[in-house]
Amino acid sequence: MEGYILGISCGYHDSAAALIKDGKVLGAVEEERFTGIKHDSSFPINTIKWLYNEFNIDGKDISSVAFYDNPHFKLNRIEQSLKRGPITEFFNRKKILKRNKEKYKQFEGQIYNITHHGVNLYYSDHHLSHAAYSYYTSPYDKASILSVDGVGEWDTTSLWYGEANKISKLQTIKFPHSLGMLYSTFTAFLGFKPNEGEYKVMGLAPYGNPKKFLNKFRKLYTLTDDGGFELNMDYFTYDWSDTHMFNEKLGHLLGIPNRLPEDNLNQPHKDLAATLQHEYEFLFFRLVDRLFALRSSNNLCLSGGCAYNGTANGKILKKSNFKNVWIPPAPSDAGSAIGAALHVYFENGGTKRQDNKSPYLGPHYTNDDVELVLKEMEKDVWFMKLNNSQLIPTIAKHIKNGNVVGWFEGKMEFGSRALGNRSILGNPCDPQMKSRMNRVIKKREGFRPFAPIVKIEEQSKYFEYKKEVPYMNQVVQVKEEYKKHLPAITHVDGSARIQSVSNKQHQRMYKLLTELSKINEYPIVLNTSFNLKDQTMVLDPKSAIKTFLNCEMDILILHNFIIKKKIL
Ligand SMILES: [Fe+2]
Repeated sequence: MEGYILGISCGYHDSAAALIKDGKVLGAVEEERFTGIKHDSSFPINTIKWLYNEFNIDGKDISSVAFYDNPHFKLNRIEQSLKRGPITEFFNRKKILKRNKEKYKQFEGQIYNITHHGVNLYYSDHHLSHAAYSYYTSPYDKASILSVDGVGEWDTTSLWYGEANKISKLQTIKFPHSLGMLYSTFTAFLGFKPNEGEYKVMGLAPYGNPKKFLNKFRKLYTLTDDGGFELNMDYFTYDWSDTHMFNEKLGHLLGIPNRLPEDNLNQPHKDLAATLQHEYEFLFFRLVDRLFALRSSNNLCLSGGCAYNGTANGKILKKSNFKNVWIPPAPSDAGSAIGAALHVYFENGGTKRQDNKSPYLGPHYTNDDVELVLKEMEKDVWFMKLNNSQLIPTIAKHIKNGNVVGWFEGKMEFGSRALGNRSILGNPCDPQMKSRMNRVIKKREGFRPFAPIVKIEEQSKYFEYKKEVPYMNQVVQVKEEYKKHLPAITHVDGSARIQSVSNKQHQRMYKLLTELSKINEYPIVLNTSFNLKDQTMVLDPKSAIKTFLNCEMDILILHNFIIKKKIL
């Protein structure tokens, strides 16, 4: 297929755009990185402008635009919901429908504004975009594909098979029966924000007893013979409401009221989080097994927002018949910008299956760019340029000595995780590091764990997992004998959400890990994303320096510059 394809995902959460040429993903960024609005849902105009500028093209070079879902089917679902629910909500729902209709009308105008010609506009089905993203970026020709999220148009879960660059649908579960929405409902019930707080619930689960609410929880769904489930809609309201997910009957069933954000987190909340995670895994693995039974292959590709559930993901190879699993770096709706575009490419005669595994697809800066910004901010920072052979041992020493180090390097990551280019690093062996990071750097809840980066060759020495985990999307056990030596990255249940790094994938991080193993014994570093609580990951050198000055981070590394604060 000739020309550039622009993939777009927007309108709900995690807006993004991606540029594809000859089957190669050239660049992709979430709009939130430019606007600073977490999970920004707006039309990704800033990302599109960056893509045009970066690849020296304009709207006339775009032959096709691929949108990540089908607005006509989505409106149909919203329209159907008008017929359900209490009459008091009717006018509210009418307004929602009107707003959505207007939004899609506006969207076609926005496409014209960015292309200035009658471009081919394709609407890919929501779950097809998810499935396409995981399959086409995977290293497999033949693969079973599972997509699990909140909801697309009607589908909430879909099972697929991919072979020779063709994807075919095997089975779906339809709205309102949704594993993603079930998880979000309990995220809301526990006082966290749906579509954002699910990580917190996952982090809370290991503190609880999964059996405490089990019998009550099992009244919330029934299993179906095809490996799926149906939710008991007596307790949930999302088949007719956009804002509420549960009714008062849920609290009565569980015997506890829903927690408000300002309330204390008590043991029953932890038990409920544990039960939710337990039941999520039970329903998820029935789907994984069903997929294997329908069309077996050695390879599983996983996508949809639920593919961020690292705890479940880390058990796939142990609990299922699949031999390999591929979870791309941005499996929720942002990645669907890439999925929709790659699907359009292959559906329209494209044949080149290119290597699209890299998560490093965003803006990047040179040492000269960095120096310019540093000179502007000279009154606040002290800085020095070091060559590579000086820099890496210096950083390793700072980490070993318990300093918290901001690390800014190369192209920005696509997806929710910092994978070593917009990261904050610390010593995994320091017993104080976790609470220090949580309290003064990330300013977030103390119960949330931090993740390690480890050299791939030495991963199985320290962790109960042999396969590569390049995108930090699987939680595995730390080996018993190392748990007490790695307190800052070992969660309360002895687990860690690892990222493996090879020399090929990230040369500089690999060198740092080698240097750390010389002075700190372990080729492991604590890694968290370069942002403060409720902020988006830093985009450019200026935002990195501002974040550095706004928290108690000790050292900042911007490419080859080492930076300290003038006023502490
Ligand atoms: Fe989705």
